[in-house]
Amino acid sequence: MQADRRDQSRTDGKPPLAGSLEPLQGLVADDLTRVNRIILDKMQSPVALIPQLAGHIVAAGGKRLRPMLTLAAARLCGARGERHYALAACVEFIHTATLLHDDVVDDSHLRRGLETANAVWGNKASVLVGDFLFSRAFQLMVADGSLAVLKLLSDASATIAEGEVHQLMTANDTATDEQAYLEVIEAKTAALFSAACEIGAVVADRPDSEQLALRSFGLNFGNAFQLVDDILDYSAEQLALGKSIGDDFREGKITLPLVLAFARGSEDEKSFWRRCVEDLEQRDGDLEQALALMQRHGALEDSKQRARDYAERARLDLGIFPDNAAKQALLQAIDFCVERLY
Ligand code: IPE
Ligand code: IPE
Ligand code: MG
Ligand code: MG
Repeated sequence: MQADRRDQSRTDGKPPLAGSLEPLQGLVADDLTRVNRIILDKMQSPVALIPQLAGHIVAAGGKRLRPMLTLAAARLCGARGERHYALAACVEFIHTATLLHDDVVDDSHLRRGLETANAVWGNKASVLVGDFLFSRAFQLMVADGSLAVLKLLSDASATIAEGEVHQLMTANDTATDEQAYLEVIEAKTAALFSAACEIGAVVADRPDSEQLALRSFGLNFGNAFQLVDDILDYSAEQLALGKSIGDDFREGKITLPLVLAFARGSEDEKSFWRRCVEDLEQRDGDLEQALALMQRHGALEDSKQRARDYAERARLDLGIFPDNAAKQALLQAIDFCVERLY
């Protein structure tokens, strides 16, 4: 997981400054070992390219945030039994499949600190292995045998695909407004966070109130997470993030920092944005100019504030649960997600 350069914790023994994934990682460490075993086992196939390509992206790590959320939510709800292990693996399979497809669609070349699968094996292989991982996820759901879970995750999968297509329709369109952007991120990202969390209450057979609270928590968490991802695309260090930055601008993807900078820009500035993201006529220095305009209009800071607002809602969603280690870990994870650098 490249913890060496991604670890934001302090080494002086004091608690981390602003949120950390460590309490969550510590809470579910043993559970996650089991989940990782299931992931490795279920990505096997006699067709050699499948484990080869899937192994490339799986072994590259990633934060395993979504399966950790399932495990922590199950813990929060006092789940017994073993169902949540396979379901957490299933959630990560869906995530991994969307990443394989997303990197083809976005023409991205770096993921989790490595060359993307499409860069190594080409678009065709990435799309097809992505399909395989989606299908594996559905096999895991069927093996679980719960129609409630099948509904949650199949709804989330359909919603993710809708979100990606919706995003495709807003691409290169500077008329895209904040509401359309929020619909896109809620669908393409937050829906899976939401299902990942809700599953915890379902497997523990908890009342609707807890199921709904976790659903809402996941949705708000996921929205905050994607908002920050979109800010990082303009402001992060590529090395820390492990994926190429500036992709959104290069591809003319309309994210909130751009929506705000465009809306607040002068006519000259609007022409600049149209040339870069609508006509995709980009020159040296344009990305730097885009960044300067975003800074001038407070677009990155205001996007961050939106992320903080969603984070606050996620915090409130946990209000109905008793204070325990699982809840504390989730609260720390919310802060991490807003302040993260990777
Ligand atoms: C990347 O998600 C895709 C987004 C929704 C922004 P993560 O940042 O969770 O990716 P990994 O799994 O840690 O690589
Ligand atoms: C996230 O969108 C992809 C999905 C949720 C399917 P992005 O395209 O912004 O994610 P990164 O930046 O490539 O990880
Ligand atoms: Mg992408
Ligand atoms: Mg992105």
